[in-house]
Amino acid sequence: MKQLIIKTILALGLVVNVAYAQLSVKNLRVEMLNNPEGIDVVNPRLSWQSASQTRGDFQKSYRVIVASTQEKLDKNIGDLWDTETINSSQSIHVYYAGKPLKGKTNAYWKVQVTSYSGQTSWSATGTWSMGILHYVDWKGRWIGLDELMPWDIQALHARLSARYFRKEFEAKKTIKQAKAYIMGLGLYELHINGEKVGNHVLAPSPTDYDENVKYNTFDVTRQLQNGKNAVGIVLGNGRFYAMRQVAKPYKVKTFGFPKALLNIEILYTDGSKEVIATDDSWKVTADGPIRANNEYDGEEYDATKELTGWNKIGYNDATWRKPEQVQNANGNYEAQMNEPMVIKDSVFVKTITRLRGDTFILDMGQNMVGWLQLKQLKGTRGQTVKLRFAETLQKDGSLYTANLRDAHVTDLYTLKGDANGEQWEPSFIYHGFRYVEITNFPGTPVKEQFVGKVVYDDLDNIGSVATSNNTLNRIFKNAWWGISGNYKGMPVDCPQRNERQPWLGDRTIGAYGESFLFDNAKLYAKWIDDIGYAQRADGSIPDVAPIFWRYFGDNVTWPGTYITVTDMLYRQFGDTKTLTAHYPKMKLWMNYMHGKYLNNEGLITKDKYGDWCVPPESLEMIHSQDPKRKTDGMLIASGNFCHMLNLMSDFAKVLGYENDIKDFQQKRDAIKTAFNKRFYNAEKGYYDNNTVTANILPLMFGLVEEENKSTLMLNVADKILNENKGHISTGVIGTQWLMRSLSQNGYENIAYKIASNTTYPSWGYMAENGATTIWELWNGNTADPKMNSGNHVMLLGDLLIWYFEHLAGIKNDESGVAFKKITMKPTFTEGLETTSGNYKSPYGEIKSAWLNQKKLFTWDITVPFNSEATVYLPTTNIKAIKEGKKPLVENNGYKIIGKANGQTILSVGSGTYSFTISK
Ligand code: BGC
Repeated sequence: MKQLIIKTILALGLVVNVAYAQLSVKNLRVEMLNNPEGIDVVNPRLSWQSASQTRGDFQKSYRVIVASTQEKLDKNIGDLWDTETINSSQSIHVYYAGKPLKGKTNAYWKVQVTSYSGQTSWSATGTWSMGILHYVDWKGRWIGLDELMPWDIQALHARLSARYFRKEFEAKKTIKQAKAYIMGLGLYELHINGEKVGNHVLAPSPTDYDENVKYNTFDVTRQLQNGKNAVGIVLGNGRFYAMRQVAKPYKVKTFGFPKALLNIEILYTDGSKEVIATDDSWKVTADGPIRANNEYDGEEYDATKELTGWNKIGYNDATWRKPEQVQNANGNYEAQMNEPMVIKDSVFVKTITRLRGDTFILDMGQNMVGWLQLKQLKGTRGQTVKLRFAETLQKDGSLYTANLRDAHVTDLYTLKGDANGEQWEPSFIYHGFRYVEITNFPGTPVKEQFVGKVVYDDLDNIGSVATSNNTLNRIFKNAWWGISGNYKGMPVDCPQRNERQPWLGDRTIGAYGESFLFDNAKLYAKWIDDIGYAQRADGSIPDVAPIFWRYFGDNVTWPGTYITVTDMLYRQFGDTKTLTAHYPKMKLWMNYMHGKYLNNEGLITKDKYGDWCVPPESLEMIHSQDPKRKTDGMLIASGNFCHMLNLMSDFAKVLGYENDIKDFQQKRDAIKTAFNKRFYNAEKGYYDNNTVTANILPLMFGLVEEENKSTLMLNVADKILNENKGHISTGVIGTQWLMRSLSQNGYENIAYKIASNTTYPSWGYMAENGATTIWELWNGNTADPKMNSGNHVMLLGDLLIWYFEHLAGIKNDESGVAFKKITMKPTFTEGLETTSGNYKSPYGEIKSAWLNQKKLFTWDITVPFNSEATVYLPTTNIKAIKEGKKPLVENNGYKIIGKANGQTILSVGSGTYSFTISK
């Protein structure tokens, strides 16, 4: 490896400009998280990024020091770990291998990087802290209130009030440090001395609580004071006390009444420790302001019931009762290793219209997910303001709620009559909405009285693409809103109707496209764990995980997401840990499906959803009944199963399981033969009934013989251009491969046409018809409301991958992982003049901005430190190419490595380059 790097470095030619030589080391990450509190991984993976002024520079060596205190770290005393100098270019996922890490301790670390150009630099300090590693270290008891209050209703539309818990205690000595570890199910808010702790909302991340429960850790040193303190916990229902009770017990999972376990560990300056834990010395009431909270139906808040000062010392809780010591949560206690949900942004009201009498409609101008904050309300005590939410309006201007099914999505706020004005926002629910209907508002509402709070997982935005085509830009923005809004500690299908479930099939390939926009590595690693937990002992994987709705349909496409998303995490982020941990379960599922559903013909028979949601024959339909539009379920299942076998054999290669590689490949070869025998029409050169999906799946899964590929693609092109008039005809399954199959096979102009269409069916059609997100159906503006969400992401398929890999030309090289090596190869299409993209890869930011004019082509690129790129310039005439206004000069950070297919291929080291080609 080292030899190879040295060779590359020499070949590229380092350009050291000593005067400016500078190296900076930054973006320290622990388990891909930023200075995390309370992790439960005992060998966390450490990553960092560097930047060098020197083109082509690489990391030559590193030294990591981990210390138990900042003072020790400052003195370079690595009492936990000191790697000394390691000659290696590894800068991501370096496994901690120091002294065993103990629970509830802190770690301070830094890294020194030396580059090939001879520069060296230390990073600033990074930190992490350990969570509670063993059950026995949890003190106290789970507390709750396992009963209904007179105002609670346990019916289909569950109405359960929030539970408020409190305790006062005295810190008798001087506090040095205090950490709070909390499990609050379904949702909690932790308060100390009158303040909410942390910025998490809707915490913790939802899980199948029978399998695992996430705890969160907060440093609360600042909130506690020497002497008397008050701690409060509010519990909401979330998915624990499910939204629908007494409903289809086999399908809908519910876990009981809300409950919590809290430990606050205080370290005093004299070295002694004290733990404040939940137990029966606490007090509880459910007779507070949150009268009901239900993710589907909304939150009801009665401000006349406020428990003013309940979370501060000195509150009179004489009417409160002792909490019940309740059963432990069944699941494993695990640190939440994915980012919490937070309020990420605000949206302000665009217009307010009076619908009739005292009913007004607010337009937020954007289909958003979160909630509405009310401000400066002045009215009579006891007056109740009603808010209803919807994605669209009817012709008469009233809310369109038919597509919400039986979700009430209604918030109620009862005023306390404060002359200084009142302010409120919900705590334990969210809505997917653009419009809000307001009734019984005190006075005439004005825009300044409302703020739309945008709520999703606290993920960084890591990439974007902008082009000279406005439709493409609008679609990109709509996709961004749809993806972010549907991140809820798990990827859900939709945020508005009575569903909001983490359906696997919606993310099969979508997760990969999303990974270019959001740093979703931890969210999806958590989801892979959720899926693993949901697996049945016999190997079956459900369609929804966590399994809030129980569906073991045993099809290939939805459960197969377990494998494709693991592949995404490995390729895009270099996450081998998830791959290693889940490999046995994925293999179990493969064997289970193969054993149970391989028929005599050698094909996998089981499919459930088909090519879900193809554009149907009539604009009102949800699912097409036309056999010409539909793709055979066995073709979908067998084709996808081959894809899974390919991925599994790749995984086995990575992990070195020789026998498995052979086994998966043999199975794949056998199905391939049976597949072509059954579905390939040699005379016509297409598969089965010649749908686009039937043809591109085998193509993309490696099932088509080389000599048949071009005829097959001619058929696909003909179908799209002539039969579909340049439009899309695929559903969820076909769309996962459509854009890449076209661009990779010389039909980039058709791909561009499909992406930039504004007529039905297309993503642009959605935007033209008022969508500010992506619809569930191509005909979302006309179809039956029964299954017609305005904010689903599954129809994006591989569109976003295509934006980055083909338009911007930013792609992880197939030979490796995590963009250590980048392929920069935009596909240029007629009609698209410019594209610029950027992507913050694990090694740093990659940029690509090109302008393709009649006489001149320019292309600016940035390759991050410690990675390299293969760059494809669209000419073979080397003399026409300039870099930085000068003719191509070898040893200037790049090297010409070949010419092919009208392109000049360069190997390019880190740095920023400006290419021009005169035509
Ligand atoms: C969901 C989809 C899901 C599908 C599968 C729908 O109700 O909204 O996103 O994948 O069902 O049946």
